[in-house]
Amino acid sequence: MTRREEILSVLKTSADRWVSGEEISTRMTVSRTAIWKHITALRGEGYIIRSSPRKGYRLDETPDRPTAQEIADGLPTAVMGKRAIYHYERLDSTNNRAKELALEGADEGTVVIAEMQTAGRGRRRRSWHSVPMKGLYLSLLVRPHIPPADITVMFMLSALALAESVEAVSGLSVSIKWPNDIMIGRKKVGGILTEVSADMDTVDYVIVGCGVNVNHEPGDLPADVRDTATSLYMETGRTQSRVSLARNFLESFDLYYAHVAERDFSVLTTRWRRFENVVGRRVRVDMVMDSCEGRVIEIDDKGALIIEDGHRTRHRIMSGDLEYIDKNNNNRSVT
Ligand code: BTN
Repeated sequence: MTRREEILSVLKTSADRWVSGEEISTRMTVSRTAIWKHITALRGEGYIIRSSPRKGYRLDETPDRPTAQEIADGLPTAVMGKRAIYHYERLDSTNNRAKELALEGADEGTVVIAEMQTAGRGRRRRSWHSVPMKGLYLSLLVRPHIPPADITVMFMLSALALAESVEAVSGLSVSIKWPNDIMIGRKKVGGILTEVSADMDTVDYVIVGCGVNVNHEPGDLPADVRDTATSLYMETGRTQSRVSLARNFLESFDLYYAHVAERDFSVLTTRWRRFENVVGRRVRVDMVMDSCEGRVIEIDDKGALIIEDGHRTRHRIMSGDLEYIDKNNNNRSVT
């Protein structure tokens, strides 16, 4: 913990109570001038800290900034967020930074969060518009002991954890548009870019990059997605906490990851199915080199899509861009 984090922690544990400068300086062996400097810096980050010459300091309000300390404080996980959490004001892409850390040997459970991204990336080389301080831009590094052929399980796990956390924080009903778009009704509120490094037999690392439109107003969304995207604020009319969302996601991910480690995918599959709305529908899936049209038979127990085409041939698809092509040709609302 840095000195600043320590001071914040003292103020937090003394919530609603004044703490004298003397108390802080003896607890931490730090000068009164240094305390003042850190308090000023914390105020600059949005913490509302009152000061009184006789009483000392009191923390009145904590900003919704997903910093390492706000995320880590009492986080009930075993692995996720337990090793290192990096918070940046600005990055090109949290996935890029997480990848660098992975290559430097960072532990699994490492988290990278940015307040804004200048080159946020979406699936299929699309860009992810990352409005400063309004969205959650978070990448999580994991090193699962699974065969590369089972990697779809990680897509399933990530989408499930994000869907559950969005529901828990906002109180809204969400669905997952396979493989990992988070939808509210017919509109997309979040997406996941999963990047994998593997050889024939083993997975080295997986970066799970989550982007959620949290407190965006309509004008914050790029014109080309204004009809198809939404935010938690736009759906609820209330500002939502990015800190709670990040913490909830890590908690949920941690839980399901433990099942994956034991090669028990059943809980994951059962819970995932509650969020899907694709089985039985006619779809087209565009993959990197190919595309496939047909009726969805099921999502199998590893998260792959099973489609039956017009010749009754079944195809198992691991990932792709899905479009509904039946009469009700949009994403079905589950709200
Ligand atoms: C998609 O739906 O296309 C996936 C969007 C993923 C966006 C997130 S934001 C955090 C992380 N860093 C990135 O550059 N992309 C992902």
